[in-house]
Amino acid sequence: MAADDRRRGPFGMEYARIAVPDMAATIEFLQYHVGLQLEQHNDEYAYLRADIEHHCVELLSAPDLETSKTVAVGFSVESDEVLDDLQERVTAAGLEVLPLHDRMKGLCERGFAVRDPNGLIVELFTEFQEYAEPPLVELRPLDLVHPFIATDKYDECLEFYTKVLGFLPSDYVGDVTVFLRCEDRYHHSLALQRNKEHYVAHLCFMMKSFDHVMRGRARALYKNVPIASDLVNHSASTSIAFYLFDPKHGPRYELCDGHRVLTPEEHETHRPRRMAVDPRNIDVWRAAADDWGRF
Ligand SMILES: [Fe+2]
Repeated sequence: MAADDRRRGPFGMEYARIAVPDMAATIEFLQYHVGLQLEQHNDEYAYLRADIEHHCVELLSAPDLETSKTVAVGFSVESDEVLDDLQERVTAAGLEVLPLHDRMKGLCERGFAVRDPNGLIVELFTEFQEYAEPPLVELRPLDLVHPFIATDKYDECLEFYTKVLGFLPSDYVGDVTVFLRCEDRYHHSLALQRNKEHYVAHLCFMMKSFDHVMRGRARALYKNVPIASDLVNHSASTSIAFYLFDPKHGPRYELCDGHRVLTPEEHETHRPRRMAVDPRNIDVWRAAADDWGRF
């Protein structure tokens, strides 16, 4: 049931902007291991897409870096009304309304950016440009689902993303992890983890099937790309996934299948669960409460 008086949050995640030391190598990595298609690039930047949306990863060439750094995340917004309301909320919270990245201004209708409590740029915009057809590549993701953000400002971030930007909590694991959803009703379009440091820990891509997740895993094994966490069955979002990790090429890339999408009614009425800090509340296939070792 639509709660018409609820102030809307963003619609869903569209892209991450990642500075990488060797852009050509990262493009190859993302093509082969994640299944993204390169659409546009020069010496400074590259756009890769998964489906019809203009891009899901923007790479910035940063040869001075040793490892990658995710510098911005982009979320689409359903309408001008919601965008105006979000801008009003940002202003009311005393935060600075920033312009979108210059290149992004030509790829949407309207938008603005804001820094989260850790300084990560969050871009919000309407009418993200799209292609008429998805890539003709068979083994590719259908969508970029969420960033998972480790933060030393967990409480401030939770307040910012929920109270200012209107994300809805889907589930908590203790007071160390929270899964937040947008209006596209994925179980989570952003997750926060209490940590000593701030970094974007992973980006999650939804593959077409579990078969494709396993083909991605086979490619990682074949090329000796470290698998930071092997197959897990997530309790909160019901997805089955594994995580690739080569710090030169970005945060961990999670390839998943089966991420829960709430129904419109559940979206308005879901009560976030408060789950215990137990490995089985992250991966239901863990054998016991002390089975943490394989994360
Ligand atoms: Fe994830």
